[in-house]
Amino acid sequence: MFSAIEMAPRDPILGITEAFNADLNQNKINLGVGVYYDDNGKVPLLSCVQKAEELLIAAPAPRTYLPIEGLAAYDKAVQELVFGADSAVIQEKRAVTVQAIGGTGALKIGADFLKRFAPDAEVYISDPSWENHRALFESAGFKVNNYAYFDAATHGVNFAGMIADIKAMPRGSIVLLHACCHNPTGADLTSDQWTEVIAAITAGGLVPFLDMAYQGFGAGIAEDGAVVRRFAEAGGPLLVSNSFSKSFSLYGERVGALSVVAATAEEASRLMSQLKRIVRTNYSNPPVHGGKVVATVLTTPELRQLWEDELAGMRVRIKEMREAFVVKLQAKGHDFAFVRDQVGMFSYSGLSKEQVGQLREQSIYAVDTGRICVAALNSRNIDIVIDAIAKVL
Ligand code: LMR
Repeated sequence: MFSAIEMAPRDPILGITEAFNADLNQNKINLGVGVYYDDNGKVPLLSCVQKAEELLIAAPAPRTYLPIEGLAAYDKAVQELVFGADSAVIQEKRAVTVQAIGGTGALKIGADFLKRFAPDAEVYISDPSWENHRALFESAGFKVNNYAYFDAATHGVNFAGMIADIKAMPRGSIVLLHACCHNPTGADLTSDQWTEVIAAITAGGLVPFLDMAYQGFGAGIAEDGAVVRRFAEAGGPLLVSNSFSKSFSLYGERVGALSVVAATAEEASRLMSQLKRIVRTNYSNPPVHGGKVVATVLTTPELRQLWEDELAGMRVRIKEMREAFVVKLQAKGHDFAFVRDQVGMFSYSGLSKEQVGQLREQSIYAVDTGRICVAALNSRNIDIVIDAIAKVL
């Protein structure tokens, strides 16, 4: 029965890591996947994580099953981080949160949940969006459409196009939005533009699904989360997926969460019962370790402060790399000033697929769309990258 099965294409992002890993060149550079590396080119083990693990090891605990919805302390801490501790949706018990297998797992629980209760709705994602958004919602059974987002001419947001597309969506449509640090473009909305988007979504009876995988990498933890809070205050249904892969450098632990905001506490408890069914039939219940680490850090004041400082350090280093990238290309006669204005880990560099292919011949890996991970640049590799880019331009 397997003989007719065709080879699936490589994943557009993780497939690059596969090709990178297979490259024998010692000086290879991976600007493909969204992973933060420190200035030594290493994925950091944050001190706050290490200290939380020391606390956990000092009080060894058996590995029983977690509840289907995850560790209670984790879910509570995530809710307070995402919506703000004083948020009305928390006080009124209108928000429910389930621990998820990373941000992708959170999106998948949300997609399956929506497919079950809004089977005829269509999903709208930004043009472009994270490659896995389309694949994930399609595999949940949805028709996935684009709304206008990126303007290649300005390297910014085509806001007129975006708002017009949102206003034209049928009521009940699901709109996937990046809460901050848009992946792949690095182009975010201004606060005033968000005001218009929230108004259009509310007036149009649409269902916003906010993906927040990079909280803290834009302007700051609270600043980046502000959009979620504004949507929560606007009333109406809301889904939020968030991830600690990047902000805690816990990629392989797969720690994320899905939060859903209901109209009433009673409705919220019904939603939670359905979310639990989806989790149970997919992977039963989430793993213990990553959730415990994050919960320990978020609820222990010294560790929380340490985390905020370490996250700020990552944010600042990325900004320094953006600046260096612009200045060094400027010195070679190329204007990439727009990279300075982009936020988060990524830049839509404007490099063509052919140019990305030429970079790969020099063992520098980027996504075919021209997305580069600025967080993978460091003081040792940046000149190599700049020279290579200048060569292909
Ligand atoms: C990325 O966009 O590179 C990251 O979110 C990693 C992934 O899973 O694709």
